[in-house]
Amino acid sequence: MKREKLEKLKQECLECKKCPLGETRINIVFSDGNPETAKAILIGEAPGENEDKTGTPFVGRAGKLLNEFLEKAGISREGDLYIINTVKCRPPKNRVPTDAEKAACEAYLLKQIEIINPEVMIFCGATALKSFYNKKIQISKIRGEILELEIGGKTRKCIPIFHPSYLLRYHSLEEGSPRNLMLKDLTKIKNLIS
Ligand code: URA
Repeated sequence: MKREKLEKLKQECLECKKCPLGETRINIVFSDGNPETAKAILIGEAPGENEDKTGTPFVGRAGKLLNEFLEKAGISREGDLYIINTVKCRPPKNRVPTDAEKAACEAYLLKQIEIINPEVMIFCGATALKSFYNKKIQISKIRGEILELEIGGKTRKCIPIFHPSYLLRYHSLEEGSPRNLMLKDLTKIKNLIS
């Protein structure tokens, strides 16, 4: 049932020219994960070059690092998560999507959330966080907190985490380092969805 509704929505996205990203994309990047078993939605920023080529979110360098962290925390990317982005098409030169581009894509995003209907949402990075929360907040100040937000007609537990491309710049795993905090946040999420 969920799959059918999502497939219909995907067909709409394939035709979408609501913003200029529709002119330059190779593929729309609709989602990854199993809609029937997903316990949480993870929202990233936007597709990059590899995602645009393959049509799948988080398959490039940042995606591989995300996979490593998910595995360490015991979260199954394929079974536990449904992964999307704030926009479905790649912004040229991987720039941050504009408010207008995000607004043009918002209805698709909300529909996906409504169909999956997760208890838990993960805001992966500042762009995803700011799409749903106070624009002035810094991700480093709020990551790991459980925010109760009304999204898609229901109150959901929303947890901001660092974006994996930020973690590519840091390698330490010592207490309080970005990678250490990422693992702590994902472990918290693992406990929430178990
Ligand atoms: N970064 C994102 O935010 N999303 C992707 O799908 C890939 C990289």
